[in-house]
Amino acid sequence: MGSVSLKIGDGTARFKKGTLCSSAVNLLMLFSVITTNLFALYAFTSSPKHQQSDVSQNAHKNLSLVSEQVSLILREISFSQRKLAKMEKELLGYGTIDISRPNIASELKLFLQHHQLPLGKDSRTGITEMVAAVGHSCDKSADLLSQYMTYKVSGPCPDDWSLAQKLILHRCEPLPRRRCFVKSGPKVGLYPFPTSLWKPVSDKIATWSGLGCKNFECLNKKKLSRECVGCFDLVNGYENKRFVKARGKTDFLVDDVLALASGGMRIGFDIGGGSGTFAARMAERNVTVITNTLNIDGPFSDFIAARGLFPLYLSLDHRFPFYDNVFDLIHASSGLDDGAKLEKLEFLMFDLDRILRAGGLFWLDSFYCANEEKKNTLTRLIERFGYKKLKWVVGEKVDGTASGKSEVYLSTVLQKPVRL
Ligand SMILES: *[C@@H]1O[C@H](CO)[C@@H](O)[C@H](O)[C@H]1NC(C)=O
Ligand SMILES: *[C@@H]1O[C@H](CO)[C@@H](O)[C@H](O)[C@H]1NC(C)=O
Repeated sequence: MGSVSLKIGDGTARFKKGTLCSSAVNLLMLFSVITTNLFALYAFTSSPKHQQSDVSQNAHKNLSLVSEQVSLILREISFSQRKLAKMEKELLGYGTIDISRPNIASELKLFLQHHQLPLGKDSRTGITEMVAAVGHSCDKSADLLSQYMTYKVSGPCPDDWSLAQKLILHRCEPLPRRRCFVKSGPKVGLYPFPTSLWKPVSDKIATWSGLGCKNFECLNKKKLSRECVGCFDLVNGYENKRFVKARGKTDFLVDDVLALASGGMRIGFDIGGGSGTFAARMAERNVTVITNTLNIDGPFSDFIAARGLFPLYLSLDHRFPFYDNVFDLIHASSGLDDGAKLEKLEFLMFDLDRILRAGGLFWLDSFYCANEEKKNTLTRLIERFGYKKLKWVVGEKVDGTASGKSEVYLSTVLQKPVRL
């Protein structure tokens, strides 16, 4: 349609395409002018042929006919105007947050305002206006958003990452805060790559505000998620054995999976990658992996970056900021599913399919299925994509932390087919 999205960093700028939008408006205007004139012409010329004697009666008739037509035309015009306004809103698509309501922070208003390009229409793109967008769902969290956007321009950013993350989890993405300075202490004790991959990360390197724990020792005592049980401990425990030493039949080893690859294994994407250990194992094999993570209950991004790996701070509701068919490998585990509806998982799977190249591998790693039915729905969903099953293992694991009852897990390595 008439708006183009340009993604830069974590923000989105939308541009109104002047030509398309205004030509649609012009066309509609032209149409309504022509219909108006046609109606008028009809009104003045098409009365039935009567005898001269009925002149006054006729005149009366003519007059009422004319006024009838005029009111019809007026109605037609106001209908067109309403339709036009609606069309314009749809074409622009960003008018979802009502900035005229009270309690909207002025910085948010400024951010959302349309800015005319200083040199007029851009000849290459046809853009006349620049509009910064925030996610449509921000409208539902307008008060939080306004609170988030209340800060001193050019001053220090408020220390409120938990608020920011709350907005993201309410699907308010991308975040609009731009014009303040984030607190930035020295990161002392970073190691060179590849030593950095397995060196314990100092507590001082991470930001702890808004988190329950204030150091890694505290975090390592907690089960943060299925992917992160003591995952910040790179020395003791299981983390430094993951992907190279199996605990059960659903644990595939990284070298076994890499042996299945064809046509080169160079870049990959890991979803819900905990503390980045999958990316670290792949880095040792000269494969660059981006680890998708939020900072839920722990400073995951800081930690992954300190290991010399690439953390991507993005919720899974976001369309991935990668072009089609670029990755050789996608690794995902239970983090793929947040217990929500199947449709949500389906949206995610389609987007993962989009960014994986033909011949690339999709490694679903110990995906937790609460019950047999869940496993069957997941299987049906996977099969719809027509991938070749290179490995497919259903296993039970005894839950170490809970009552010791066994749980069903699915691990699979799939190869994306060529689709033309
Ligand atoms: C009313 O319309 C008829 C038919 O078109 C026309 O002959 C007549 O002159 C009109 N009367 C007046 C008063 O304009
Ligand atoms: C990774 O790349 C380096 C430098 O090119 C090379 O020396 C090393 O053997 C490679 N490692 C693997 C596992 O391929």
